[in-house]
Amino acid sequence: MVLDDVIKKLRELAGSASLADVREGLGGLKEAVREVDPAPWLVGDLDQVGESLTLERARYYLRRMEKSLTRVRTGRVNDLNLNRWKEYDDVFTDSLWVMKKRDSSGVHTAGYWGNFVPQIPYQLMRRYTRAGEWVLDPFAGSGTTLIECQRVGRNGIGIELQNDVAERARTLIAAAPNPHGVVTHVECADSSRVLLEPILERLGVRSVGLLVLHPPYFDIIRFSDDPRDLSNAASVDLFLDRLMAVVESTAAFLPSGRYMALVIGDKYAGSEWVPLGFLSMQRILEAGFTLKSIVVKNFESTVGKRNQEELWRYRALVGGFYVFKHEYVFIFQKKKPEEGRR
Ligand SMILES: C[S@@+](CC[C@H](N)C(=O)[O-])C[C@H]1O[C@@H](n2cnc3c(N)ncnc32)[C@H](O)[C@@H]1O
Repeated sequence: MVLDDVIKKLRELAGSASLADVREGLGGLKEAVREVDPAPWLVGDLDQVGESLTLERARYYLRRMEKSLTRVRTGRVNDLNLNRWKEYDDVFTDSLWVMKKRDSSGVHTAGYWGNFVPQIPYQLMRRYTRAGEWVLDPFAGSGTTLIECQRVGRNGIGIELQNDVAERARTLIAAAPNPHGVVTHVECADSSRVLLEPILERLGVRSVGLLVLHPPYFDIIRFSDDPRDLSNAASVDLFLDRLMAVVESTAAFLPSGRYMALVIGDKYAGSEWVPLGFLSMQRILEAGFTLKSIVVKNFESTVGKRNQEELWRYRALVGGFYVFKHEYVFIFQKKKPEEGRR
């Protein structure tokens, strides 16, 4: 059978007068479906038709199957075909992201202290961008986001304060495969003050589809001696002010309805848990964004810290706190201007 025959048969079955007729007509259809489309879940869907308890339900499954085979239905912000949603096993929908291993394929390495696992930008781009759109990462570091941009076919702009770090990112990105021929650009600048417009203009970009923010977690890692570096902010409040300056300047190029992700962890200082994540979240909510999700991601010790695990466990027992094993990925959606600020 060819696809047209399968569709004809599905329609005929949907027009059956009784559930018994539907079940009888299913014979042989499994093989035909398998021939025209090898997706394993389609055959499972056909089983659902046979197991339906009412004719109405069976018809619903048959029509859904026809759509899976013939029509593409995507949302506004990604390319996922919702008529074949069962296909996207690799796309997360749960709020707990447990990643046993960093993706170290290709040019990705854990070499830059404080870089995130490539799975984070990968997941974000799959859910919140379409092919060929632009992604802006104002804390580009070693260029993880842009390397993933090339992998999944999104154009990317990274901004990084430190010249040598930006240069190393450029080298890494240039060495990464670029099968979709997208454009990636790393600018060396202070994201809280940079004039983005001329940079975007040079690249022919009017707006971006997604913002990925992975700032320093305040002073947990001091990335440089540069006073403009967010990790050198004099206090948590000043860190938040600087972060918000970056949010404001980058969000100006994000159309309403589009998404921004903030990847951040908390810190422990002065015998107190400092909820950097929730403090940042609160500030962003006041700036015209809706909270769509708080994802908790596991956090594995870096090789250096691993030797200190016993020490931290002891400290936790003495100090009445828990040792960090997670960080957050906050997902925000930009509100329409008329929805205003809170
Ligand atoms: C947590 S790291 C980001 C790592 C990145 N996601 C990666 O995978 O390599 C934060 C980065 O922000 C940079 N940074 C700090 N303050 C900045 C600023 N004002 N403007 C631009 N970059 C800044 C730091 O140099 C550091 O590379």
